Amino acid sequence: MPIEQGFEEERIVTSRTLGEDGDVEYSLRPKVLGEYIGQEKVKENLTVYIEAAKARREALDHVLLYGPPGLGKTTLAGIIANEMGVSIRVTSGPAIEKAGDLAAILTSLSQGDILFIDEIHRLSRSVEEILYPAMEDYSLDIILGKGPGAHSVRLDLPKFTLIGATTRTGLLTAPLRDRFGVISRLELYTPKELSEIIIRSADILGTKIEPAGAMEIARRSRGTPRIANRMLKRVRDFAEVKGDGIITDKIADEALSRMEVDKLGLDMIDRKMMMFIIENFGGGPVGLDTLAASIGEDATTIEDVYEPYLLQLGFLNRTPRGRMATVRAYEHFGVNYTEKPDDSAQQSIFHLED
Ligand code: ADE
Repeated sequence: MPIEQGFEEERIVTSRTLGEDGDVEYSLRPKVLGEYIGQEKVKENLTVYIEAAKARREALDHVLLYGPPGLGKTTLAGIIANEMGVSIRVTSGPAIEKAGDLAAILTSLSQGDILFIDEIHRLSRSVEEILYPAMEDYSLDIILGKGPGAHSVRLDLPKFTLIGATTRTGLLTAPLRDRFGVISRLELYTPKELSEIIIRSADILGTKIEPAGAMEIARRSRGTPRIANRMLKRVRDFAEVKGDGIITDKIADEALSRMEVDKLGLDMIDRKMMMFIIENFGGGPVGLDTLAASIGEDATTIEDVYEPYLLQLGFLNRTPRGRMATVRAYEHFGVNYTEKPDDSAQQSIFHLED
């Protein structure tokens, strides 16, 4: 269990779904592709596949969506269902405990329906094995009885579409990955895209926002709509209580600075991680597990949640020998960077630490 677990709940920049403002969070989600901002390549491709499947009156092929949390994988699954005109059943890898749980879900689907499994990499092996024939042949193998009298029967399933979501495709077993006909990667959003999302959300919430105010929040949202929408709601509180209700860049800056989110959207955990690499390891390289143990986080959380944005900012380099802080990171955190003639300086620090 990561030491910072309790603290993570408090992070304004967490990309986890927190469940607060649940109904509002739901209403902010776009319902059709035309309302969905960003992810242009994914949208273009999906538009073609959806149109083709609809013209053939077939179920859409199985889709795997992957990318860091909070980028809109669940939203996109809902949109696909809407655009196809079918029902969607939403569940997650850890929620399907037994093979029987999945069998019950699969047999309740209708022709063309979508089954969305979030965190699909967390399915157990026995459940995953039920999924293979279900995805490939739309059939379900059920074992009846026990011992020598046991026999299996094959049930036909309606032709459904599985949409799986995960943070990295590498977390999936090869047989599962190979059964998806469409594999789409969601990218972090640009500040411009995020500011459009924020302006759209402010409109739904009935909050006045200046373009500069939206951009200020966008720049600090780590490329993630879920974070942008959460920050918008907190900045709105601030604007209503401390200002005249209008979100300006000044109000956004004041609110986010109070929440200890810096100009680039980094918070204390990012700072702790980067300063650890800079101060304790002379800038790196530091192995992922060493880093994880030192800041009390899971290695997976570091890879999926913190690193994508630090890599995009150009603050972190992944090398075969570990993570390294870049000159840009030194500058941002106000530490003097001394040129290293070669890696030997870092090596010697490594040995001292060992
Ligand atoms: N809300 C969350 N993600 C969104 C997106 N990609 N487009 C529009 N609104 C959103």
